[in-house]
Amino acid sequence: MQPPTDKQIKDVLKDFEPKKENLLIPILQKVQEVFGYVPPESLNLISKHTNVARSKIYGVLTFYAQFSTTPRGKYIVRPCRGTACHVRGAKNILSKIKSKLKIEDGETTPDYKFTLETVACLGACALAPTVVIGKDYYGKLTPDRIDAIIDSCK
Ligand code: FES
Repeated sequence: MQPPTDKQIKDVLKDFEPKKENLLIPILQKVQEVFGYVPPESLNLISKHTNVARSKIYGVLTFYAQFSTTPRGKYIVRPCRGTACHVRGAKNILSKIKSKLKIEDGETTPDYKFTLETVACLGACALAPTVVIGKDYYGKLTPDRIDAIIDSCK
């Protein structure tokens, strides 16, 4: 995957008023939404645009789990590994997802379609075991439903 060009990054930044430190997080969110991650190549341009030091931007990126500085998949697959899901078979769901996508937790498929990230609790314990793919919740899952759900992601 090629990192974005300066022009592509500037196109995102132009929608944000310059020299506004309080716009740093919305800018980082937008950059991540557009490119799927916050490319390290974008930090100088973001620093110039916001007047925030690169080191401080890097601190923000590492503090918030929502940000990634490495390319991620189009779909983030988040199986729950919390207690309620665990007792209802989350381990089997995770195994099925790993074997279907042929990746481990934290990895991205070579075509950048899927990234697998387990989470501590998705806040939908009554529906255990649960998985979120993109913005869609799937509950009361069984391993044999995983194939169809993942195949439905275009
Ligand atoms: S433990 Fe899985 S959703 Fe809460």
